[in-house]
Amino acid sequence: MDHQTVIVLDFGGQYNQLIARRVRECGVYCEVRSCRTPLEEILAIKPAGIIFTGGPNSAYLDSSPTVSAEIFDAGIPILGICYGCQLMAHLLGGTVSPCDTSEYGKTVTYYDKSCTLFGAVDELPEKAISWMSHTDLVTALPEGFVNAAHTDCCPNAAFYNKERKLYAVQFHPEVNHTEHGIRMIDSFLKNVCGCTGDWTMENFARTAVNEIREKVGSGKVLLALSGGVDSSVCAALLSKAVGDRLTCIFVDHGFMRKNEGDEIERAFSGRELNFIRVNAKDIFLSKLNGVSDPETKRKTIGEEFIRVFEAEAKKLGKVDFLAQGTIYPDVIESGLGDSAVIKSHHNVGGLPDYVDFKEIIEPLRLLFKDEVRALGRELGLDDVLVDRQPFPGPGLAIRIIGEITEEKLDMLRDADLIFREEIAKAGLATKIHQYFAVLTNMRSVGVMGDGRTYDYTIALRGVTTTDFMTADFAQIPYEVLGRASERIVNEVKNVNRVVYDITTKPPATIEWE
Ligand code: XMP
Repeated sequence: MDHQTVIVLDFGGQYNQLIARRVRECGVYCEVRSCRTPLEEILAIKPAGIIFTGGPNSAYLDSSPTVSAEIFDAGIPILGICYGCQLMAHLLGGTVSPCDTSEYGKTVTYYDKSCTLFGAVDELPEKAISWMSHTDLVTALPEGFVNAAHTDCCPNAAFYNKERKLYAVQFHPEVNHTEHGIRMIDSFLKNVCGCTGDWTMENFARTAVNEIREKVGSGKVLLALSGGVDSSVCAALLSKAVGDRLTCIFVDHGFMRKNEGDEIERAFSGRELNFIRVNAKDIFLSKLNGVSDPETKRKTIGEEFIRVFEAEAKKLGKVDFLAQGTIYPDVIESGLGDSAVIKSHHNVGGLPDYVDFKEIIEPLRLLFKDEVRALGRELGLDDVLVDRQPFPGPGLAIRIIGEITEEKLDMLRDADLIFREEIAKAGLATKIHQYFAVLTNMRSVGVMGDGRTYDYTIALRGVTTTDFMTADFAQIPYEVLGRASERIVNEVKNVNRVVYDITTKPPATIEWE
């Protein structure tokens, strides 16, 4: 291991992933571990520092999650955030009590800049906004600690013991609303923990390639390549490590966007790997003949995908490793830490039983999405692949309402491309997190030249979101929508009307099916 590690000890807070991301953004590698992890296991990692996260409990209750107080004597710098701050106070002899008035949201905070966390942040004024979310507070500090911040309601909004390198903040520095909060985390990492910021994707790529080589030996690796960011970066990394002992199977179900199948093929044809593209459009279309129910479409495509993949994989004989593009949020969300399990991710735990392989490898399982993209760039992948927006497995099949035909697929592909071109021209491509066209099943009356038309309606959808679990409709300027609409009705046959979807998620979903 040629980088320093910080442990984010998870007490079940809602921002735990965000803390880990912030630490990585500061160029420091970190891992999220459950607060139930035995102390010896944590010490064996030789962490440069530990961050206690927030959590929904009260530190003074016996039933609440806790740690062995010996952790404070290990000489490792610790930063407690919110619940972590209260737990530190409680375990070291301070007092934690319920608030008279809970503090929630943006709060005026007064900082003592002689504390390293704040003093090293030049741009931080003595009075600034922090993000608070707590119903308990520290009313008496443990012996040896000094106060470093307060608010009108919270006398001990930050405190520390410099000799023991123990720091605590009641507010959430990881949340963007805390002014200069990320710089405070950076100061803890660099000035208290002595981290050098040695976590770079160049560094990761080098280490990962060596680890993969060691693990795979002379074995063969198989990867299902969808062309999405994760599987593409996974392919590029594996190909660098094991060359043509990697086989990527790209099942082209015919529901990709315009030219996308060819782009994926082109991106990988120059690399040292076995790239197999299965053009299965006709099989998929025939299986979906007459199907209009969304769930049946998804199920049919999912089953057929496995069948086609399996048939192709069987031709390879036994493979040693099956690679998956699982990434860190999938791992955390599947309940690695103490946070509520948000969703069971399909990539974690559910091993396919249809391919004969010895072991699974997940070379990206410790990376966040932005790191995966950075790694992709490091490995020389094209921007088209690295910046690709999320795209559902069943592809355009769930963006055509009702029955799917080749004609409808062509119409949707053309409309979708026009929308994407206009978004790009307006410089909005990276500002809107997902945007696409949907072919509704509705036809309406229009007029073209001197004639009456009775044609399809295209719906455009654009959303902004941080996690895709909730989303807002994107406020795309009317001029941009207008240009896209004008081009779509002029350039795409059998479309005479364009509408823009202005629903949030919930109650709507991002996709229409
Ligand atoms: P919804 O429509 O549920 O979509 O709001 C949330 C996000 O998930 C994507 N999505 C999928 N991704 N397989 C995938 O890999 C699927 O079957 C699938 N369905 C939806 C969707 O594009 C959005 O980003």
